[in-house]
Amino acid sequence: MKALMVYDSVFGNTEQVAQAMGDALGSQAEVQTLRVNDVKPEHLAGLDALVVGSPTRAFSPTPAIKSWLRGLPAKSLQGVRVAAFDTRVDVAEVGSAILTFMVSIFGYAAKPIGKGLVRKGGELAMPPEGFIVGDTEGPLKEGELDRAADWARGIAG
Ligand SMILES: Cc1cc2nc3c(=O)[nH]c(=O)nc-3n(C[C@H](O)[C@H](O)[C@H](O)COP(=O)(O)O)c2cc1C
Repeated sequence: MKALMVYDSVFGNTEQVAQAMGDALGSQAEVQTLRVNDVKPEHLAGLDALVVGSPTRAFSPTPAIKSWLRGLPAKSLQGVRVAAFDTRVDVAEVGSAILTFMVSIFGYAAKPIGKGLVRKGGELAMPPEGFIVGDTEGPLKEGELDRAADWARGIAG
């Protein structure tokens, strides 16, 4: 199985999650883990699985992830198992009623990434997932890297 992990990251937390996923899949697949700006069309050739992750910024993926997804050719992910994840804060912990309301409407980055991948022909292999940072710049909450590794193993089937 050939797998590609594509991520964006501002403070390094999403990068850590992507690396943990790549390591977890590495025993079952030939895996590359790349920052979105480093992905070239040839990296997509012959892929079996594609995982895309972004920090949630203003309820959305980063502009780089959004524009990369938009730029993928139509049907280019046909026959590819796809999955999407984000990193996010725990809204309950922030304790803001307005933020909780906004999140209930606008959500997080993973779901729109998943939709974008399916729009290009991919088959969703796992439901979109979020991994929690303790604060804006991190670190990730305890246990999140292990949870990310387990989630990624589910993509291999
Ligand atoms: C400008 C900005 C907007 C953010 N918006 C959200 C948000 O809408 N929802 C959320 O859960 N976290 C939000 N966060 C927290 C980020 O999700 C957090 O910084 C990110 O998970 C860290 O990942 P990174 O280290 O890979 O950049 C925001 C952070 C910044 C700086």
